[in-house]
Amino acid sequence: MKQLEFSELTPVQQTLVNRAVEIRQRAYAPYSNYKVGVALVDEKDNIHAGCNIESADYTLTTHAEMDAINTMVKTGVLHLKEIAVVVKSDVGNAMPCGLCRQKIREFSASPNVQVIGINLDKSEKIQHIFIAPMSELFPYGFGPDFLAMST
Ligand code: THU
Ligand code: ZN
Repeated sequence: MKQLEFSELTPVQQTLVNRAVEIRQRAYAPYSNYKVGVALVDEKDNIHAGCNIESADYTLTTHAEMDAINTMVKTGVLHLKEIAVVVKSDVGNAMPCGLCRQKIREFSASPNVQVIGINLDKSEKIQHIFIAPMSELFPYGFGPDFLAMST
């Protein structure tokens, strides 16, 4: 994982960050107060965004990454090339949880898919940005190719 500045991101990555910051405002997180915004670019270069959506039941939460991926799938495209995750926190890196890493693995165009984690500060300004490939975040992960059986 490496840290970089916004200006070091590619134009597409900068767009993903901006879209993720924007959609984060739509997060429904009254229980955790931890709003997450995600934007991804698919293999056809279309961008899809998602946010976390909680429920009074507590167990029914949709993670932002899952929301963005489901949105992509519903357009008929199955693979993403890059994904940005935004949270407002000064603790840790804004990287997807284990469940979301599994889901990103399912729909990744390659193990080189870059995951960009953005932490916002109290005034919602970018505090720091980390980037890591899926191969580093989810090594040896289970995936659709594992289901193949040779007879
Ligand atoms: N959350 C996400 O949206 N993505 C993650 O990968 C980590 C957790 C959400 C779920 C819940 O609404 C809140 O963040 C606190 O866990
Ligand atoms: Zn998650």
